Amino acid sequence: MRFAVVFAALLPIFAQPALAGETSADQMVGKARAAIKELGGGLKEKLVSAMKEGGPVAALDVCNIDAPKIAAERSAASGMDVGRTALKVRNPNNAPDEFEKSVMEQFVADLKAGADASKLDRAEVVMQDGKMVFRYMKPIMTASKPCLACHGSELKPAVASKIKELYPEDNATGFSAGEMRGAFTVTKTLD
Ligand code: HEC
Repeated sequence: MRFAVVFAALLPIFAQPALAGETSADQMVGKARAAIKELGGGLKEKLVSAMKEGGPVAALDVCNIDAPKIAAERSAASGMDVGRTALKVRNPNNAPDEFEKSVMEQFVADLKAGADASKLDRAEVVMQDGKMVFRYMKPIMTASKPCLACHGSELKPAVASKIKELYPEDNATGFSAGEMRGAFTVTKTLD
């Protein structure tokens, strides 16, 4: 009896391939949103506690080690490649590919035109090296606190020199509050 009910409920989806496609696309976007929420939450929690405990210089060490680690953990847990990128990066490993670069340029243009950052995102399936790849991105905005201590224009000398030591090619300072700092990015190759 139970089986019959479940089967009946699923039938319309199987009967309409287009609908099934849409459903799974929606599910992918939902999964991507959930994964970046966890990544953002995990990073924030680490950052806030490290800043509280040791200030920005000590927190830099934590970001340096934990940011890539948390991204790797979230990628493994979600089955999607989850990370952060930016037009101006601190860690060269976070440098954008062509798709990410063009989406971020579009975000900047949309924000300039008055778009609400919290509602801005982009999901697309693209062909990459002959494969269908799901891509999802969402802007990361610079809040005044605590981002500017490490990404603003007036860094404390000790913070500036620690950044130079850890990231000799750093390009991620000079931001002001409310600017787009970068974006979350999710990639998944579809079979
Ligand atoms: C304690 C210093 C510090 C603070 C505060 C800080 N960051 Fe960062 N940020 C870093 C470091 C270090 C990296 C490089 C992490 C890595 O190696 O992956 C980074 C990387 C990033 C990246 C990834 C792209 C890139 O440039 O490599 C984004 C996006 C970012 N930060 C946004 C923010 C935002 C938004 C805030 C405020 C909520 C913030 N950061 C606060 C130190 C900091």
